[in-house]
Amino acid sequence: MLRLNPCTLSAALGRQLLLDASHLRPSFEQLLPVFAGRLLDRSLQRANSGSIGLGSALTLFLVSHKRSPRLIAEVGTYIGNSSAAMACGAGLAGQPVHLVTCDLHPCTQEPLAGLQLPQGSGAQVVQGSSTQMFQALASKQAKLDMLHLDGRLMTDDLKLLAQLLKDDTLIALDDCEGDEKGHMNLDLLRRAGLIQQHAFVEPFPSELFRAWNLETRSVTGLLLPLKSISFSRQ
Ligand SMILES: C[S@@+](CC[C@H](N)C(=O)[O-])C[C@H]1O[C@@H](n2cnc3c(N)ncnc32)[C@H](O)[C@@H]1O
Repeated sequence: MLRLNPCTLSAALGRQLLLDASHLRPSFEQLLPVFAGRLLDRSLQRANSGSIGLGSALTLFLVSHKRSPRLIAEVGTYIGNSSAAMACGAGLAGQPVHLVTCDLHPCTQEPLAGLQLPQGSGAQVVQGSSTQMFQALASKQAKLDMLHLDGRLMTDDLKLLAQLLKDDTLIALDDCEGDEKGHMNLDLLRRAGLIQQHAFVEPFPSELFRAWNLETRSVTGLLLPLKSISFSRQ
């Protein structure tokens, strides 16, 4: 009788996260000067790349707050705005946040600069490929609470991700529109059998961001652990 799909899940999760979270507004707004400073810093920019938009940043902030990951890995550091959004949301739980992020090309070495995070939090920037980063994590038997893909997965990443992902790893995929890289990464993860315990959630509808007085949109899709979906009587 009731069929849920990536679109209906997006509307439901987006409503829950965006409409019930006005108390988080001051924390998110602290990020805005950090984002702007980086976007205006010419020494951080490259002509052939771009950073996440505001709607995607807010999505990452809100899901990180909800999931409270202690270990986050990211493919695609660039100027570090997505790293900052996730760490800031995760840090609201008061537990130290550890972020490992990688980029093949020159990128910021301080993605968490300007943020106030719980003591013991920190970031490691791997100047290299996702495969190198995942190999280093797997060699330490790490298990990821959250993974953000804002770069293109490589073939050798998939067997390493089989060791790093858990049933309750929250996965965020940037550029989930058209045939952009988000859908390619989604397809690779699915074909490798890595997301059988996850449900794909489309980027949140633009109108929901108006509840935060933001005229913006998100291109961040989510792979939500099935075990994080529950029914409630209220
Ligand atoms: C869109 S930018 C990332 C923007 C960043 N998340 C931000 O918010 O500022 C994508 C970056 O991913 C990097 N990249 C793409 N595929 C990669 C891979 N497999 N391993 C490491 N870096 C990768 C590119 O060099 C590029 O700088």
